[in-house]
Amino acid sequence: MTQLHPNLDFTQITVRHPEGYEVILVRAPGALPEAPPGTQPETPAATVHAYRNSCPHLGIGLDYGNGQCLLDDGKTLLCAMHGATFEADTGLCTGGPCAGSRLKRVAVTIVNGAVICD
Ligand code: FES
Repeated sequence: MTQLHPNLDFTQITVRHPEGYEVILVRAPGALPEAPPGTQPETPAATVHAYRNSCPHLGIGLDYGNGQCLLDDGKTLLCAMHGATFEADTGLCTGGPCAGSRLKRVAVTIVNGAVICD
């Protein structure tokens, strides 16, 4: 198991996997439950979606180089190159030159508030 990110203090972030490729992490809206002071909330792994940062169209990263590709709606990932759009929670391409294809999901779990991959 490898830590991809030490906490859930993000909406969308791009991190580097130990094997060298980039991973887009998206935290689902409202995924951080309120916890009583001094306690750690239980966080289901499904609250973070992880995908390889590789557009199905040409295999390049979605972002402009700054790691950011989530639109202001909080639900859509945008490829900066040709404008393909993807559902943040499924990876399905909903528009653009690769419509109908999917981002490749990376399996992650949440352990003690950190994002972990196998
Ligand atoms: S490389 Fe992503 S839409 Fe063309």
